[in-house]
Amino acid sequence: MPEITLDATPRLNGLYSRRKTEVDALLAKYPDRRSATMPLLWLVQEEDGWISPESQIEVAAIVGATPAQVNEVVSFYQMYNRAPVGKYVLGICGTLPCALCAADGLYEFLSGKLGIGWGDTTADGLFTIQRRECLGACSEAPVMLVNRKLETRLTRARIDRIIEECRAGQREPYFTGHRPQS
Ligand code: FES
Repeated sequence: MPEITLDATPRLNGLYSRRKTEVDALLAKYPDRRSATMPLLWLVQEEDGWISPESQIEVAAIVGATPAQVNEVVSFYQMYNRAPVGKYVLGICGTLPCALCAADGLYEFLSGKLGIGWGDTTADGLFTIQRRECLGACSEAPVMLVNRKLETRLTRARIDRIIEECRAGQREPYFTGHRPQS
């Protein structure tokens, strides 16, 4: 595989220098390095919680695409965040089966409790509320993703407990922050 060279610009995210082994392993999986775009974006989001313009430039440089091409991917898929998010991302399913099981009422409850609406983040940076399409657990409706964990058959009491657990730091945060490669 040819050596990767990146422009020495301070606007890059620094992903490649921090996680070179993982990045190289991902690139090696695909005959065309552009196919690694989505998993690389996941690496970024795992660290930062969102995909910044600087990250898009760096991923583009790594896979040999243009920043505009990477931006097309980021803006097409709902799962990539294009703005910073809170430590806990609460993704309420808004598709019909959950809506029929009072998901809207749960959103109103959560929104009132945290004082934020769809896509917003609380001032303390702890919580973001997002709307999700069907999460594949319709028989357990209403459901919500708390970071990457699916919570089913939600009630207001259950939501109260989830928020308390998050505030007490008893749940894994949505993103890790930058750290040296292990
Ligand atoms: S509609 Fe909510 S999980 Fe399917």
